[in-house]
Amino acid sequence: MSFSQIGVVGLGIMGAGIVEVFARAEYQVFGVAESALAVDAGKSNLAKSLARAVSKGKLSQEQSDEITARVTFGEDFALLADCDLVIEAAPEILSLKLDIFSKLDAAVKPSGILATNTSSLSVTEIANATSRPAKVVGMHFFNPAPVQKFVEVISTNHSDGEVVSQIVEIGNSLGKHLARISDQPGFIVNKLLLRYLNHAVQILDSGQASKEQMDAAMRELSGYPMGPCELLDLIGIDTCVEILKTIHADTQLEIDEPATGMVKLVSAGNKGRKSGSGFYDYSEKLEIPTDPNQDIKDQVHNDLLIAYLGDCIAMAATGYATKADIDSGMKLGCGLPEGPFEVIASLGIEKVRAAQVELSERTGIATYQPLSV
Ligand code: CAA
Repeated sequence: MSFSQIGVVGLGIMGAGIVEVFARAEYQVFGVAESALAVDAGKSNLAKSLARAVSKGKLSQEQSDEITARVTFGEDFALLADCDLVIEAAPEILSLKLDIFSKLDAAVKPSGILATNTSSLSVTEIANATSRPAKVVGMHFFNPAPVQKFVEVISTNHSDGEVVSQIVEIGNSLGKHLARISDQPGFIVNKLLLRYLNHAVQILDSGQASKEQMDAAMRELSGYPMGPCELLDLIGIDTCVEILKTIHADTQLEIDEPATGMVKLVSAGNKGRKSGSGFYDYSEKLEIPTDPNQDIKDQVHNDLLIAYLGDCIAMAATGYATKADIDSGMKLGCGLPEGPFEVIASLGIEKVRAAQVELSERTGIATYQPLSV
């Protein structure tokens, strides 16, 4: 099957980014959202991202116009009828996704593949909302979708192997690096990333460090492109809370319960960049001051890094994902300068294990203990 027409449902930051990725790769794209307002927001998200690339000299105005011309926006699912692949990028609410998939099932031609960009929800449950579960997969992009080069391809027990291979082929045609994973809460990257982000807010809630200290620590001492609070604001704190709830329902571990600081911000409507404020205020250009308190930065950097490395070791040791996919996911999905197993190789596994023991004993949290395999 050759793919030429691609549909995207949901035109928030992720949906509009996915539209851009496909339109840049010369696919004909149909972007659908539930209201005229949401369609306008999608158009504006695409226009802003292209204008940014033009202003940086990465695209000519002519290329930007060609990309825009490949996209048709609208509110009607009938627009998606002839699409070979439709990707859903709606908010992380299962009932909403189930409703969208049952509508897509009715609207899209029977040979069309339906994919969800869910960050953690069960792709199997979503597939079950259709009459074509063999043609339903997860295709999980990272924010900003035009920038991050990693995509997780999630298959369920129902997925047709041929369909999964076609999705991998399409992903390659977008210039993305793909990793295949079975349907598990948080897949590879979010399972690791969200626990790390939650850990940061737990530290913040405990008063041990400020958000600025934590963000400075991870940027300065590990070279991360963003600190945890900045990243929570980029992803959307509401989305992060929803992902954590799904992961927590699976693990039942206290450390996966969404941290109070996040839940409070969401209740107050402070969802991050998309709502104008979250941990930080975005009414002006964000400038995070560097913090001179090196001891606090060293401590939070140690704690966040060691807990995360321990999770990566456990993920690989239990056969959940390969070390290579974990390294690629964290580097190409989140822009980290090194993959966790590269960091472990340079620190030395014995040093990491000793630091895990120290962290577990100091905090009283057994999950931080090294896995005995
Ligand atoms: N849309 C399109 N392009 C964008 C962009 C956007 N919103 N933001 C930045 N860019 C591009 C810029 O045009 C620039 O491209 P060039 O190098 O080709 O010029 C590049 O990204 C770098 O941009 P800037 O120099 O302006 O900004 P930066 O260096 O501060 O990088 C960043 C911005 C790319 C967002 C970087 O900070 C980063 O990688 N942060 C980590 C983001 C991350 O972890 N994402 C994954 C989150 S998890 C997720 O998404 C999954 C989920 O389900 C929750």
